Amino acid sequence: MSNLSGSEDASPRGSVEGLVLLVVAVVLGVGTAVGLAAWSAEPRALALSDSGRQESLGVPRSSSGLVATTENRGQVLFGRYCDSCHPGGEEGRGVSLATLEFRRDFQTQTQVAQVVRDGTCKMPAYNRFLLADGDLSEMAKFVLSHAEAATREDPSPPLPPLDGAGILDKKCNNCHATIEPHLDPRDVQILFALNDMAKCAGLTTDQRNVLRAYLLAQQSQR
Ligand code: HEC
Ligand code: HEC
Repeated sequence: MSNLSGSEDASPRGSVEGLVLLVVAVVLGVGTAVGLAAWSAEPRALALSDSGRQESLGVPRSSSGLVATTENRGQVLFGRYCDSCHPGGEEGRGVSLATLEFRRDFQTQTQVAQVVRDGTCKMPAYNRFLLADGDLSEMAKFVLSHAEAATREDPSPPLPPLDGAGILDKKCNNCHATIEPHLDPRDVQILFALNDMAKCAGLTTDQRNVLRAYLLAQQSQR
């Protein structure tokens, strides 16, 4: 009995408490919404002036430029993953990606992407978990256009592709010059080692095929 009257008492009190809670929640909610709107108003205004007024004054897009937009995605990704060894696409711990030699060896996005996926003896491989296909092709596009821009002023004609002997000299003996015994293109070991060493040297598929044909021709001359 007392239980029943108790609950009869409690129910109007409970609904008053509920109403108070509801009012508090509404006030907090509206307050938060107004606060968020005011807070977001400033960045929105900045972004507007950034793309319009500031750009016309020659001021580079600062904060929004760091965001990977569709135009600069490749560049931003390059900065994140590659710049430590190829600073600004130039030679650092890596090699320069902005020379006529580079343009001779790497002409398509697929070629650039392949060396990044495979890695070399001196460069780490970037798998799909590190770098998605779409990001990699944006990056490869940036690398090629950067190389194109960097060599545009150079009056010398584009270099012809390396022949087999040239690949052996420039891409293999750069390393093997100090490794005994020296590479002999007539030694059959060189054909067995070709696939691994082509990857080690960062050869493109085309270069590996040219080198293989050259080595096969050398073998039969023995
Ligand atoms: C740890 C240093 C390092 C990092 C990081 C690195 N590279 Fe390299 N990269 C090298 C070295 C060294 C070579 C020269 C090839 C060799 O001798 O193995 C090279 C070669 C290359 C080549 C072939 C150039 C040529 O002429 O043979 C390309 C293209 C390239 N890197 C692109 C990239 C890109 C794109 C990234 C970022 C995803 C990257 N690299 C990250 C060190 C690095
Ligand atoms: C980054 C340095 C480097 C580059 C570039 C390189 N090599 Fe090597 N190569 C090595 C090293 C290190 C070994 C192992 C030597 C050893 O174990 O005594 C080796 C081993 C070899 C061997 C012996 C393999 C065996 O089974 O005994 C051959 C053949 C060879 N390389 C051919 C090539 C060819 C061809 C190229 C060019 C496509 C090349 N290498 C590019 C460093 C390099």
